[in-house]
Amino acid sequence: MSTLAIAVLASGRGSNLQALLDAIAAGALQARIAGVFSDKPASGAIAIARAHGLHAVAISPRDCADRAAHDEALFSEIAAVQPDLIVCAGYMRIIGAAALRRFEGRMINIHPSLLPRYPGLDTHARALAAGDDEHGASVHAVIPELDAGPLLAQVRVPVLAGDDAASLARRLLPREHALLVATARLFAQRRVQLHADHALLDGRRLLAPLQLDAANHLTGA
Ligand code: GAR
Repeated sequence: MSTLAIAVLASGRGSNLQALLDAIAAGALQARIAGVFSDKPASGAIAIARAHGLHAVAISPRDCADRAAHDEALFSEIAAVQPDLIVCAGYMRIIGAAALRRFEGRMINIHPSLLPRYPGLDTHARALAAGDDEHGASVHAVIPELDAGPLLAQVRVPVLAGDDAASLARRLLPREHALLVATARLFAQRRVQLHADHALLDGRRLLAPLQLDAANHLTGA
């Protein structure tokens, strides 16, 4: 089996990228990061990529005529590294349908909520405001509708008395990292196929998202 080539798309600090790099270095993920791509030249993700000597490309939307031109520029750079999988790890822009079509079945996103609850922004505050007693993160296939593609895997954390959005985010983040690594491993093992309205695991339709357990195993298929 050839080593999975991953392109990472990120806008922010890059801790999920770092988690993928750590797992690869530890031999826990048979993959390589083929490139890191961003809309934010000054992002932590780009700094991490450069520090690791990775191919890193940042294109600011300000330097493009419109949204479609930005997508086209960034996704042409992504296409050039021929990724097997594109991981959106805190990429905070909506990706247009043309770019998505080009990479259909090869793009996943990690989102900090138990989708379909709380697509969009401010997920931790919204979970608290709703009085939820658990919160979590989801990895799903990317489709044109925001945070709405077929769900692959989730991790759950308790909401504790006295939590605020920052403490909840802090509790969730290391679990997000483990979730992303475990899900990427399924792709490295070529066990997943993504379609517009469903995902296959080992050739069988996934009827509910896999759940990450305390030992960082995905269960429930
Ligand atoms: C992560 O919490 C990720 O789930 C979230 O952005 C953060 C990126 O952190 N993604 C979204 O909100 C996407 N809608 P990182 O830059 O440290 O990996």
